[in-house]
Amino acid sequence: MKGRITVPVGIERISFYTPRYMLPLRELATARGADYDKYRIGIGQEIMAVAPPDEDVVTMAASAAIPMQEDFQAVELVLFATESSIDQSKSAGLFVHGLLGLPQRCRVVELKQACYSATLALRIALQTVAANPKAKVLVLASDIARYELGSPAEPTQGAGAIAMLVSATPRLVTFDPAAGIHAEDAMDFWRPNYREEAVVEGKTSTRLYLHALQKTWEHFHEQTGCLLADFDYCCFHTPFTNMAAKAYQILQKIQPPETPKPDENSFAQRVEPSLQYNRITGNTYSASLYECLACLLDQAPNDLTDRRISFFSYGSGCTAEFFSGTILPGYKQHLCTDQHREVLEERTPLTVRQYEDVFNLAVPHDGWDYTFGQYRTGPFRFAGVSGHKRIYARNE
Ligand code: CAA
Repeated sequence: MKGRITVPVGIERISFYTPRYMLPLRELATARGADYDKYRIGIGQEIMAVAPPDEDVVTMAASAAIPMQEDFQAVELVLFATESSIDQSKSAGLFVHGLLGLPQRCRVVELKQACYSATLALRIALQTVAANPKAKVLVLASDIARYELGSPAEPTQGAGAIAMLVSATPRLVTFDPAAGIHAEDAMDFWRPNYREEAVVEGKTSTRLYLHALQKTWEHFHEQTGCLLADFDYCCFHTPFTNMAAKAYQILQKIQPPETPKPDENSFAQRVEPSLQYNRITGNTYSASLYECLACLLDQAPNDLTDRRISFFSYGSGCTAEFFSGTILPGYKQHLCTDQHREVLEERTPLTVRQYEDVFNLAVPHDGWDYTFGQYRTGPFRFAGVSGHKRIYARNE
């Protein structure tokens, strides 16, 4: 097939984690005097994940990686993608390295470019493994999406982490070398160092996302000759599920005029199966595109073997990439579907008051010792701070 070569490197395992608390958006709509249909239909979200005070990007990423523990001793590189950084100097990946007991003969680094950085991490991982097939790379993407209370962006908040083990023995997905890329200096969404919440120009951000999609598609198409019809499924960076619907519409619109018209159900068939997790977690920023991939692998009604997937990664500011991959035979035996079901189904709903109380808690900055109250988390928790150090603990 056009633009496709078989490279024996790719994703061996993928696992998703989201906090144990959530807020049904019906409750938020009532509290904000909004029509719930605006959230449910207009934005396409039903529930948002809420991280308790003792959960952060480190604990979420470490929890996501647990299903890969048999391979930890082969990990030579940890790439931690986030835009919810907890330290200006030390990589969040090193806290995870410690919590998981990863080997000392290892490189560890944190990457930042809004929601895009996990895609660069994946690309670096693929190249590292291609150069050294004995190495395994742990790609982590973990974020907490925070906007101001009562703002239009509030119902698109969320939290979660993805862990991907990239190796020369891929079991799930391999990737094609071609990629359409785009970058431009823009201010659609950003978070100055002194703020806990992102600043966003909502309408500008959706326009720029679609513009970057068009640019990356054109570049990808120039290199590969591929058309949308060459893909069985499309995964998009998904800040809210209706953004993926808008993205798919644009891709259809910019196909050459002679392209056969896709059937009316094509969104339902090609995109919807990847959106079910996002609809009930909210935006997970850097993890979002790969949360969609995990969801597609778990939830697609048909066997995905040899199915070809397109991927669109977008990071505000802005950088974007359009690329493609293929699902491998036997992939179903290597999924974490049961863990994903458990983490999504066993969540504790919060009231709006409880969510706001959690939202307004800030990590103390004065350097004294603080022990945080214990909430429900995964295997790890952010237990407190002491002398400006973050203290993590493993739950018994
Ligand atoms: N019933 C059904 N639909 C309704 C409705 C109702 N009662 N009321 C409104 N709607 C529809 C609107 O028609 C609109 O649909 P379209 O977009 O298809 O026109 C939709 O609901 C949203 O309504 P508004 O445009 O009025 O919403 P808003 O301006 O209040 O907020 C938003 C929308 C700008 C996306 C805001 O949620 C936001 O700022 N979100 C954060 C930014 C974001 O996610 N941007 C995405 C691109 S940037 C990116 O991808 C990076 C990232 O992760 C942040």
